Amino acid sequence: ADSLRALGDRQKLAVGTAVDDAHLGSDQPYTAIVADQFSVVTAENAMKWESVEPTRGTYDWAAADRLVAFAGEHDQQVRGHTLLWHNQLPSWLTTGVDNGTITKDQLREILHKHVTDEVTHFRGKIWQWDVANEVFANSWDPNPLPNGLNGDDFWIKNLGEGVLADVFRWAHQADPKALLFYNDYNIAGQDGSNAKFQAVHDFFAKLVAQGVPVNGIGEQGHLDTQYGFDGKLFQSDLQSYGDLGLKVAVTEADVRTFVNNSTEQVPTSQLAAFAQPYEFSQMLTACQLVDQCISFTAWGVYDGDSWIPGTFAGTGYGLLYDVNKAPKPAYYTLQQDLQLG
Ligand code: G3I
Repeated sequence: ADSLRALGDRQKLAVGTAVDDAHLGSDQPYTAIVADQFSVVTAENAMKWESVEPTRGTYDWAAADRLVAFAGEHDQQVRGHTLLWHNQLPSWLTTGVDNGTITKDQLREILHKHVTDEVTHFRGKIWQWDVANEVFANSWDPNPLPNGLNGDDFWIKNLGEGVLADVFRWAHQADPKALLFYNDYNIAGQDGSNAKFQAVHDFFAKLVAQGVPVNGIGEQGHLDTQYGFDGKLFQSDLQSYGDLGLKVAVTEADVRTFVNNSTEQVPTSQLAAFAQPYEFSQMLTACQLVDQCISFTAWGVYDGDSWIPGTFAGTGYGLLYDVNKAPKPAYYTLQQDLQLG
């Protein structure tokens, strides 16, 4: 049967994966899957601030450059991830802010330089940039701002919400052709009040109206079979972003379940084993049904190398390939969805 990328190409939908540079090149089966199955790649960690500027003023682009070169050799596009995020910041920066040796004005200049330097370094090679990541409050966050931004977010707290429009402007200046995305989780398809979706929607409607160069919204798509998931709501939420004149993308899809043991990653129940590919399929078909949805990316290649078990103990089985790098039912389900168009 055809690869995911070949099937996606036929309907102009890029199918992607996050790539871990520790495996790329050195792990032959891993490398073959990345090359053969996917038409767009995201660096799982290699483009984050702590990776590219571990020491202030000294850039290390090596791992990210390797991925971009690999993508070029394999006719793949690249999603750049991510420029403004509270996590995986270099310790020189967080320490400096904590102990007051970096003032707010300096922090703003440091961020401006970071965005400009990184986007410039990769200019012409990045299809979509995740310019800002995860700055909106979840229902459990204690200090949401009235517009739904997370008042405790490192960047919002230190620089104010105006910094968001600025990072999009700075990124656009450095690479006018890259598509600039806002990326977050639980911003589509969530039952209940759907408050996070609404906040993101309304905030970016305003930025679009103001002419800020934002081009897209990325829903990460980190699902867990123990919670309900509404594929139709997911689709209509993506469509609502699209109706703002924005592109949309599913950027970090994985679907975790409870597993018996973290090495083997076999689901604890048949129901979970069936729900896993089903929820993957719901996300992909929603993307296929929304004209503005341009890419669908899984957050990792195989269950042996995923952030999930380390963060949500007792869960796993989140990806398209199992711990032995064999394709799972989720893989075949997506293949079939792409086949059907
Ligand atoms: O780089 C060190 C390495 O030197 C050390 O030997 C090793 C030992 O633990 O740790 C390495 O750092 C780890 C890094 O991944 C690289 O492997 C960190 O501990 C670990 O926390 C980090 O996890 C990443 C996580 O973001 C951190 O926030 C995951 O790989 C990555 O999948 C995950 O991705 C995020 C997206 O960027 C944003 N959305 C949510 C998603 C899942 O959390």
